[in-house]
Amino acid sequence: MIDLARQLTDDNTPAELGQLVLKLASVSADISAKVRLGALAGVLGSAGEQNVQGETQKKLDVIANDMLKEALLSLPQVRALASEEEDNVVAANHGGAYIVAFDPLDGSSNIDINGQIGTIFTVYPARDEVACDSAEQFAQPGRQQVCAGYMLYGPSTQMALTTGGPSRLFTLVPEQGAYQLTQNELNIAPECQEFAINMANQRHWSPATQAYIADLQAGSTGARGKDFNMRWNGAMVGDVHRVLMRGGIFLYPANTQSKTHNGKLRLLYEANPMALLVENAGGKAVVGAQAILDVAPESLHQRVPVILGSGAEVEYFQAQQ
Ligand code: AHG
Ligand code: MN
Ligand code: MN
Repeated sequence: MIDLARQLTDDNTPAELGQLVLKLASVSADISAKVRLGALAGVLGSAGEQNVQGETQKKLDVIANDMLKEALLSLPQVRALASEEEDNVVAANHGGAYIVAFDPLDGSSNIDINGQIGTIFTVYPARDEVACDSAEQFAQPGRQQVCAGYMLYGPSTQMALTTGGPSRLFTLVPEQGAYQLTQNELNIAPECQEFAINMANQRHWSPATQAYIADLQAGSTGARGKDFNMRWNGAMVGDVHRVLMRGGIFLYPANTQSKTHNGKLRLLYEANPMALLVENAGGKAVVGAQAILDVAPESLHQRVPVILGSGAEVEYFQAQQ
């Protein structure tokens, strides 16, 4: 068995970055323990506050955010933090070489129904030319990420991680609070027969996206000549994990007729880390014509359309636009 620390060393991860990843892993083991106990740990239900995006915060959103924040602020290599649950950038340590952004708890609507939830994180190099607490620290395209990953709190707790090389999968041993390597290299097959989208938003999509999904539904009787199945978790971590494990296409497209016209998912701490994991597993991740990783950020909590997964299927989607 190869544990996370050993794999980071074998991958020649810079020591400070490796310690940062190990810290995130250790906090996630603590979050996982609370998730596992659920109501018995008093972590279910609403916190009664709203975040900057006007979403009602669940207790676990706040608990996970506070745990990650406290742990990362203690690391000298971390210069600044950004989180879905923080309105602004949080300054950390002036000399730090890295900045970290995270979605502390993804899939909040699944918390109270004992469904799949997760944590998403990304690490960038700190920028010397701007202040520690400036949103400009995070105004870097996703290609600049030095590390990205997620933890999935499912029947087992798993972490998908890339430090620039292959996307790898680790599984938590709760008794040890440590992750072991369980899949050395994730590879997404280019072709697929499964899609993930919230069909309730159908009327809000562009005509081209509506036609693409209609073709998938028509299956072997339509233009595609093969049947597709559909799955939707309501948690990006769970839906993208399925795509990484067995191929497929995940879409949270632009909602052309609603106020969330750029879709729902946030570029910095949802779209970009998932895009890096998917690309490093051989898949594709796009907003439309452009790769997610090439989008120039405009604001900290910016939303973008997300289409990712099996390479040939994502290219087919792009050709239909
Ligand atoms: P979060 O819980 O961090 O706010 O993210 C929820 C996101 C994402 O996980 C998922 O793909 C999407 O919301 C689900 O949206 P629907 O409510 O449209 O199913
Ligand atoms: Mn999320
Ligand atoms: Mn969240």
